[in-house]
Amino acid sequence: MTELKAAVAEIAEQFAVSQEKLQQGVDLFIELADRGLASDEDVHGLPMIPTYVNTIPTGSERGIYLAADLGGTNFRVCSVTLAGDHTFKLVQSKNPIPVDLMSGSGEELFSYLASKVASFVTEHHEAKETDEKSKFKLGFTFSFPVTQSSLNSGTLLRWTKGFDIPDLVGKDIVSVFQGQLDKQNVPVDVVALANDTVGTLLSRAYSSGAVAGGKQGDTLIGAIFGTGTNGAYPEDIDNIKKLPADVVKSLKAKGVTQMVVNTEWGSFDNKLQVLPNSKYDVAVDALTSNKGYHMFEKRVSGMFLGEILRQILIDFHQKGLILRQYPTFDKLPHRLRTPWELDSEVLSLMEIDDSSSLKATELTLKQNLRLPTTEEERLAIQDLTRAISKRAAYLAAIPLAGILVKTGAFEKGVHKEIDVGVDGSVVEFYPGFRAMMRDALALTQIGDKGERRLHINIAKDGSGVGAALCALDGA
Ligand code: GLC
Repeated sequence: MTELKAAVAEIAEQFAVSQEKLQQGVDLFIELADRGLASDEDVHGLPMIPTYVNTIPTGSERGIYLAADLGGTNFRVCSVTLAGDHTFKLVQSKNPIPVDLMSGSGEELFSYLASKVASFVTEHHEAKETDEKSKFKLGFTFSFPVTQSSLNSGTLLRWTKGFDIPDLVGKDIVSVFQGQLDKQNVPVDVVALANDTVGTLLSRAYSSGAVAGGKQGDTLIGAIFGTGTNGAYPEDIDNIKKLPADVVKSLKAKGVTQMVVNTEWGSFDNKLQVLPNSKYDVAVDALTSNKGYHMFEKRVSGMFLGEILRQILIDFHQKGLILRQYPTFDKLPHRLRTPWELDSEVLSLMEIDDSSSLKATELTLKQNLRLPTTEEERLAIQDLTRAISKRAAYLAAIPLAGILVKTGAFEKGVHKEIDVGVDGSVVEFYPGFRAMMRDALALTQIGDKGERRLHINIAKDGSGVGAALCALDGA
């Protein structure tokens, strides 16, 4: 075996997630979830944020609502018409977030967002009188950790996924947004704030049952595997021990028994009790603005997979294992030297390349990184890519299985089947991600039987439809 092959094999071994690790991960997830539901004392623990969303849609909801969605690279504004028969119509505008706004001031970001809502409303809706009653109701999907004390308010805990606007941390995001909308005279009322996972859960619950054959079990989890990763599920109010007593009392008086919890599972195992921690993971964490937080996300989601590979390639180059035509780091192509330049989309192309001598990979690397490679190097890079994505997909099974075991979902009925709504570029487009995740799910405590009873379905436009469904609650 060549030195390069041996080094690649070593990484593949180091990145493999065993059945034992998966099961330890599930146990730890349940323990940390319980601790997070009991109190917010442990700042590095699982946030388990109560969302004040208490009803899961049935599919019969109707109405026209506005939704806005900020959570990654784009800001979307949409108008959603719920037809009341599990179907909906959606018109949307998609606006890329200028990179400098991701680390500027809160005012700059939200005045930009308000201006995009303004142009959407002007384009798609007839002018409205701006008295309170006739304003459009808007559900806002804001996909960052936010603590909520009601459906239409929430304080930003910290930024994730590359955003870094310190003056907004600790602020109520709804009032900041509403303030800018009012300043620009946009006739819109922000009536609900929701995480994208909550939107995904609600939208999947609304849509499921529309297909022939009907509903495939209750929708229990909304999950995102995209730029970031996270999940939400309905939890019994009695188990959310940190809810203030007066809130519990008034909910119970209304007959409410459950509340959707935003787990923020990106922050699962920040203390690295079970998660693998290679030197490449350490290097990636050091580049982020939320160091020490969201350690699970940094091993699983799309924003990080390419950067992990880039770190390995730099290390292999330094060891003289690859790209020997470049004598030093400074001589490497600029893009390979630059953090975050290697996109997970490139990995997804290399993952399934079966062309002879990996010609497709050769082209991809040339186009995206300006990097010429030999066949031996490409084979090595493909194996590394597969080790990284397999580790991500295997780890992704842990919180899903954790929630299924914790809620005893499969035991709540005969032949119980469970539906999970998912969204995000990785789960939707990364080749084999869902299949690998299912392989890993079968190895967890839910076993083959649980895995077979689990339906994982894409909740298309989950954030938009979900926010509209929240707006309906808040209206
Ligand atoms: C990050 C955010 C979380 C969001 C997830 C997916 O983990 O903290 O709120 O749900 O990304 O977008």
